[in-house]
Amino acid sequence: MKILLLTSSARGHAIAETLARSRHMPAIINICPNRNPGIRRLAAEQYVMDIMDFPAVLEIAKQTKPDFAFIGPDDPIGGGIVDALESIGVPSVAPTKDCARIESSKGFARELMRKHGIDASPRFRVFETTSDQIEPIRQYIVGDLRGEYVVKYDALKGGKGVKVSGEHLHSIDQGVAYALECMQECGRVVIEEKLIGVEFSLMSFTSGKTTIDMPAVQDHKRACDGDTGPNTGGMGTYSDANHSLPFLTAQDLARASEVNRLVAAALMKECPEHVEGYKGILYGGFMAVRDGVRVIEYNARFGDPEALNILPLLETDFVDLSLAIINGELKPEHVRFARKATVCKYITPASYPEAKTEKGRPIVFPHPLPENGRLYVGDISEDDDGTFRLGGSRTAGIVGIADTIADAESIAENLCEQVKGPVRFRKDIGTAELVKKRVETMKQIRST
Ligand code: AMP
Ligand code: GLY
Repeated sequence: MKILLLTSSARGHAIAETLARSRHMPAIINICPNRNPGIRRLAAEQYVMDIMDFPAVLEIAKQTKPDFAFIGPDDPIGGGIVDALESIGVPSVAPTKDCARIESSKGFARELMRKHGIDASPRFRVFETTSDQIEPIRQYIVGDLRGEYVVKYDALKGGKGVKVSGEHLHSIDQGVAYALECMQECGRVVIEEKLIGVEFSLMSFTSGKTTIDMPAVQDHKRACDGDTGPNTGGMGTYSDANHSLPFLTAQDLARASEVNRLVAAALMKECPEHVEGYKGILYGGFMAVRDGVRVIEYNARFGDPEALNILPLLETDFVDLSLAIINGELKPEHVRFARKATVCKYITPASYPEAKTEKGRPIVFPHPLPENGRLYVGDISEDDDGTFRLGGSRTAGIVGIADTIADAESIAENLCEQVKGPVRFRKDIGTAELVKKRVETMKQIRST
């Protein structure tokens, strides 16, 4: 069994580790933009190259003849690598370019839900550069949305395309100007109601016909404790032993699950006949609000760090699960997760995400890890003598696994403290205090 794994990053390391513990003992062929030392230890072969260079990727696939491909990040998925690999007979655990529009076009995602009667969006409108839109945009923001709005670039932009009023946009003029900028760059812009609530991620495996959820996770995008500082790729995450989250009601989780199933079914209906629907990971970014849950966005891949919480809990065989997704035979017995809580904290360079002045400095990780701890390396390099050095982005995701979120937090915290080098991490993620704050916020929102 050979698997082509297209990714670097800590998420890629977690995917590689989970594939590697399969009974199939697969040979992993890794194509990656940066040589990830964690994946290198698990892979039979590693090719460092631009993963957006599809002809070069196809060349390696032709030479190595993998049984299937697993694609980590959004760019190659959105760009159509799955279709390209399929054209040479290599199936993927990821959707085709058409289906991946659920992530690569925020307008497509919103319009798909509207068309199929999935009532889970905030109020929204898509504006296109067909005519002068300045006045209609201003009217929509001021009149319909009463100045509480979000402007979304309608294509992939490395997580930087969304601007929220009051956070990034401080006047109506700024909002209109950003909307026009988006339209000029990609032809369309989504403007929607600003929701008030608490965010969470619910990722599902889907074969097109069948959709099975993973445990819900909460991510923390702000760089610093107390949700302050600039936005990042995600500083850490937690999940609970009951696979829900302390601030969600049973109805909230059931509804998010239903919305993921409805979206997979809607994508199936939209697919051309020869495509058997959306295959891979459907990641719903939700917000729990006063009267239920709303979709913030969809992603067509594993979340990072969310995958670092989820994959260590997978008790079933990841290769069998991947094959079931590809073959359209996914069944509940393919997906079983340990009923444990997890906390993931990302170690980053001390000045991340701004200055990146620590790049190239040595770093030492705790070793050996306890049985209930995991460490997935991200943007680091390794010298010939085994010295690890910092890159400019997130360094490593450290995960604690336990019966409660609080115990998982202690394990992760303790391991983070042992990392030696010019790094930092958020101390508050997964603490009882932070979790209580989320629960109280939701209680207050539901009572208004
Ligand atoms: P997205 O890329 O769509 O996930 O947006 C990035 C971030 O913007 C989300 O994680 C939210 O914090 C925020 N956001 C997006 N849409 C909304 C919305 N309709 N209301 C409030 N915040 C939002
Ligand atoms: N955790 C956010 C993302 O993967 O997009």
